[in-house]
Amino acid sequence: MAIPSIQGVPLEINSLIASHAIGIGFIKDVDGEYSFPVASGLIRKIESHFEIDLLDELKFFSAAGKAGEIFEIPVSATGSKCERIYMVGLGSQSNSDARAAGSALGRKIKGKAKTLASIAITDKSQLRGHAIAIALSTYLWTQKTGQNKNETPKILVSGIHNAEVEKANILVKAVWHTRDLVQTPSNIKTPAWMSKQAKALEKKSDITVTVLAGKDLAEFGGLRAVGNSSPNPGPRFIQVSYAPRGSKNWPHVVLVGKGITFDTGGVSLKRPYDSMIGMKTDMAGAAAVMHVVGAMPEIAPKVRVTALLMCAENALSGTSQRPSDVIKHYGGTTVEVINTDAEGRLVLADGLAYADLNLEPDYLVDVATLTGAISLGLGKQYAAIYSRDAALAKKLHEIGEKNGDRVWHMPLVDDYEIALRSSIADLNHTADAVKFSGGSITAALFLEHFVGKRTWAHLDIAGTARSETDSGESPKGGNGFGVRLLIDWISSL
Ligand code: BES
Ligand code: MN
Ligand code: ZN
Repeated sequence: MAIPSIQGVPLEINSLIASHAIGIGFIKDVDGEYSFPVASGLIRKIESHFEIDLLDELKFFSAAGKAGEIFEIPVSATGSKCERIYMVGLGSQSNSDARAAGSALGRKIKGKAKTLASIAITDKSQLRGHAIAIALSTYLWTQKTGQNKNETPKILVSGIHNAEVEKANILVKAVWHTRDLVQTPSNIKTPAWMSKQAKALEKKSDITVTVLAGKDLAEFGGLRAVGNSSPNPGPRFIQVSYAPRGSKNWPHVVLVGKGITFDTGGVSLKRPYDSMIGMKTDMAGAAAVMHVVGAMPEIAPKVRVTALLMCAENALSGTSQRPSDVIKHYGGTTVEVINTDAEGRLVLADGLAYADLNLEPDYLVDVATLTGAISLGLGKQYAAIYSRDAALAKKLHEIGEKNGDRVWHMPLVDDYEIALRSSIADLNHTADAVKFSGGSITAALFLEHFVGKRTWAHLDIAGTARSETDSGESPKGGNGFGVRLLIDWISSL
């Protein structure tokens, strides 16, 4: 299915009635009175064109005014192709309410070759998020054969400036491509397949992609220990760089993504076995950072951006690593492997050390579906951010509150550090020398050993990267979490 495009539409009746559907926002105040934020003159014109009374309709439905509550009014009038008016609740008119209204509208045109014109939102700062939500809620990924036709809707939004429309379309594309990767099943998306997807970004200007495999990974002990469990085709280290001519002295952001194309747990096999089914999404971090860099030529920030995709399958085979193995990471740190299901930190450690030792990052950020523990703590609506740099964490938090990729600053609790001690190596990798619980925190403390003195942030997206239901802006499964967060952050540097 093609990616839907967003365009601006003038706030006037003739442009609106040329669409198949018009989305109108409403609010309900404390006294139970309904109102429409959009200009009342325009509402009157729509009402007289279709011979309807929108307030009466809301009363008839006993609309509660909740964000995303939606009512459908079939309409027809000679000389207009408009067939539906959608009245959508705006709640308390917050940013997230504007997005909820967008996804409610988008879901009405999902898979249909229809044009929707939204005049729901009037607050300029909310229009981009609203438009993106409409587009993303129409996302579909399917391998169904047969007659089901998934067509591409068209989205018109009133009041939005051209520059904002352009930015919205760039963000939608980046999230969409990321979702496509995460949704793809693991029999297709091997680490080699991931490198092919990354290579395809080279057709954009200023992007270069290099891939290391086989003998070239000799120093990447973590990536090899995990990925050699799968004989075919083996792990890949994929470097995707955005570096335009003359960018040498620009700030450098390095993003490291966990790219486990399937996580069985390895010899420490996941149990219950059902918990394995979602694990095709264990490369969501790598997919996100790949398409963050892929969006850079269009965003054109004065920032160099490099993504390191740490791609491997964590399989169960005769060449799987064993609990009790000792491995040597990039840069030389030795690690005693305890539970082979804690594979994410092993592949990330190599990537972080590589970035620190070779790339001189001003900001080093890793993105990973790292621990089940984080969804016990934060649930599925907030990802964890770990960083010693409080200003960086605060900035990412604020950006996420606005665009929907929400992150919560978690502490790097130094008291738990002793749990990472090993009697035979520099570190034990599952932090169980002492029982502290806090599995997401101890995983972050492990990663910190590989970042040198860099300004570093770690995003644990295990709870947020995958949605259990097809609802709101997200399809069931991989949803592209982190793409908007990182693109908006890089744009702000
Ligand atoms: N990929 C998983 C984490 C995960 C769990 C992601 C659920 C999404 C949903 C990770 O590799 C893992 O298995 N982590 C272990 C670590 C433990 C063995 C220390 C976990 O969280 O149980
Ligand atoms: Mn695992
Ligand atoms: Zn994993």
